[in-house]
Order: sequence, then C-alpha cells, then structure tokens
Amino acid sequence: MWYNVGMKILLTGGTGYIGSHTAVELVAAGYKEIVIFDNLSNSKELVMAKIAEISGIEPEFVEGDILDKVALKGLFKKHKFDAVMHFAGLKAVGESVEKPLQYYETNVGGTVNLLEAMRVAGCKKIIFSSSATVYGEHAEVPYSEDAPTGQGITNPYGETKHVIEEILKDVAESESGWQVVILRYFNPVGNHPSGLIGEDPNGIPNNLMPIVMKVARGEMAELLIFGDDYDTPDGSGVRDFIHVVDLAKGHVAALEKLSGLAADDSAILIYNLGTGGGRSVFEVIATYEKHAGKKLPRRVVDRRLGDIGEVYAGVEKAARELGWKTELDLDDAMRDTLKFLG
Ligand code: NAD
Ligand code: UFG
Repeated sequence: MWYNVGMKILLTGGTGYIGSHTAVELVAAGYKEIVIFDNLSNSKELVMAKIAEISGIEPEFVEGDILDKVALKGLFKKHKFDAVMHFAGLKAVGESVEKPLQYYETNVGGTVNLLEAMRVAGCKKIIFSSSATVYGEHAEVPYSEDAPTGQGITNPYGETKHVIEEILKDVAESESGWQVVILRYFNPVGNHPSGLIGEDPNGIPNNLMPIVMKVARGEMAELLIFGDDYDTPDGSGVRDFIHVVDLAKGHVAALEKLSGLAADDSAILIYNLGTGGGRSVFEVIATYEKHAGKKLPRRVVDRRLGDIGEVYAGVEKAARELGWKTELDLDDAMRDTLKFLG
C-alpha cells in the first residue's frame, strides 16, 4: 500500500518519552518532514541529536509552549502541517492531585489552543495521546473501546484525558474534514534498542519502570511494591505493559489510517494500544532482575490509593482497523531498559 510519506507532521511534546520514539519510527517509515514543538519542561533538547543519531534525520525543533497562543499561531504560519500528533502535556498522577489547576490548564487549555491554531490554519488531522485511565475503575478486562468512559476516574490527570476526548469528539462533529484519532495507551515501558533515547523524567516519577531505574541507579533506596493481596495470580497488580517502540509504531499505523481517508470525511477513531495481556508487578521485577543479573532492593507495602488489581487492553480493533499489533515483549523491554541505563 502507498502512503503519503510527504506529509509534514507536527509532534507536540516530541522530545518526551513517547514522542521521541514516535519521531524515530516515523522517519523509519519514510516520513521525513517532522517538526517537534516542546517547552522542555519534562525533556531535554539533547534528545534531538539522539533522534538524528538513530534515524539519520534531525527533525526541526521549536522550543515553545502549547499555552502560548502567539507561538502556536506563528508555528502554523511558518509550516503547513498535514497532521499533528499531540503528546505535550503533564502526566504525573500524584502531582495532578496536588496541582489540579496546572493540569487542567496545560492539558485541557493547551489542547484547546492547539485545536484553535489547527482550525485557523486548516489542518484537521490530529492523533491524541489518551490513556486507559479514561475507563475509570469499574471497567471489565479486557477493556474494550466501547466501554463507558469518564466514570470512576480517581485523579485530575485522568479527568483531563477524558475531557480532552470529549472536546475532540465535539470538534470532529463541528465541521466536516476533522479527522481525529484517540489512542488510549496502556502502560508504556522499555525504550529504543539503541539505548540512546528512553524515559528520563525530571522530578520524582510515579510509574513503576522509572522508579525501578532510579533504584537501579542508586538514586532511590528501594522499590516499594504497592500491595501483594490483589485477586491476581501472585497478588501484585497486573497491567498491560507495552514496549514503547510498539506504541510508537501504533502512531505510524494511525497516521496511515488517516491518510487513507478522503479529505472532507470527518472521523473520530478510538483505539487501545496495548499487548492484550496482563503481566504482574512481580513478573516485571523478576524479568528486570534476570536481565540485570542482580536483585533490586524492594519491600511490599500497602496498596496505593486509587489503584486497581488488573488492567489490560482489548486489542482486536487496532489489529483489525490499523493492521497493528505488538511485536515485542517484556524481555525486550527490560533488556532495552538496561541498555538505556548504561
Ligand atoms: P513526557 O513527559 O516524556 O513527554 C511530554 C512532553 O511534553 C515533554 O517533552 C514535555 O517537556 C512536553 N510538555 C509538557 N508541557 C508542555 C507544554 N505546556 N508545552 C509544550 N510542551 C510541553 O511524557 P510521555 O510519557 O512521552 O507522554 C506523552 C503523552 O502520552 C502525554 O500526553 C501523556 O499524558 C500520555 N500518556 C503517557 C502514558 C505513560 O505512561 N507514559 C500513558 C498514557 C498516556
Ligand atoms: N507500582 C508499584 N510501585 C511503584 C509504582 C507502581 O508497585 O513504585 C505498581 C502499581 O501499584 C501498579 C503497577 O505498578 O500495580 C503499575 O503502576 P504505574 O504507576 O506504573 O501505572 P498505572 O497502571 O498506575 O498507571 C499508568 C499511567 C496512567 C495511565 C494508566 C493506564 O500512570 O497515566 O497507566 O492503565 F492512565
């Protein structure tokens, strides 16, 4: 099949963890006209050189904030984008409880600014980084894209993702030609096999793997395992851990789906991106330790507030409509994590 690899694509938040891996996979798939717009609040400009080292092409970098309407306007004046992949936003669940206004402003307000700049410029294709968190805590596994969303979300971060999804649906219905893909990520782990880019958050992480890495580096004393009394095979939490390279390829598949639509067709397409299976926290740790050849200091503590036992994705829709499924597993993710750790 022929795809429009001549498309010019904007990646907001493109120096971040998922955006940088997606930039690499876009270039690998032939998309060479990429512009990254990021305020570097949770990433480093050095990532641009790493993307170039891996892919042979350095996308254009623009330092800027999605809260800055003037900067966005200038960006869309300078470039005629065919599509936007919108990664920029704040993602720390715990921090969102302490600073809800900052999360609503950046995630929701920033997305509104971006959509307005797109509307004015006549760019109507957008792929949005949503999250399994929109399903709330009452959904049944495997989560299906048809399951209700927005009920039982336990933190402001999750609420912002739900609200943005609703905004995108309204925008897609507002005038013809809007083509929106909402990708609901499950738990991204691992990094590029080159070890050159990976998850390197500023500040204190919430997620399992960034914490494992901090403990491995000796920057944190021990890993706290939040509960071993869930109704799961080994009692620890079960999640759908997806290798970030597979996740990045899911974005390329979504873009190809969009480029196959007629220009004035409106669309709102929603896909889970996960492996379709759950692995436990103990399994993740054991796999990491197997590859590292040493044990991590760790301790089981009480369950974390708001956590649930088991989460994994239904992935048939993405397989059927995007022709995409994961190819890598937890061993690949842990091996690659160790390469990034150095
Ligand atoms: P990340 O923090 O590594 O990347 C986000 C990027 O956005 C960073 O480079 C940051 O500097 C930039 N950014 C933040 N605020 C900005 C602003 N106001 N203007 C411009 N740039 C800004 O996070 P990630 O893991 O790559 O996540 C990307 C997207 O995927 C986010 O929207 C996140 O909510 C979503 N998501 C992530 C996960 C996960 O577990 N990593 C899961 C589900 C959804
Ligand atoms: N965990 C620990 N110790 C830690 C951190 C996590 O035991 O120090 C456990 C959690 O209890 C959970 C599992 O590891 O069982 C995964 O936890 P994460 O914080 O890495 O991920 P979550 O599943 O809680 O949440 C993540 C993202 C959300 C997203 C959600 C979708 O943070 O943004 O996946 O399922 F919505």
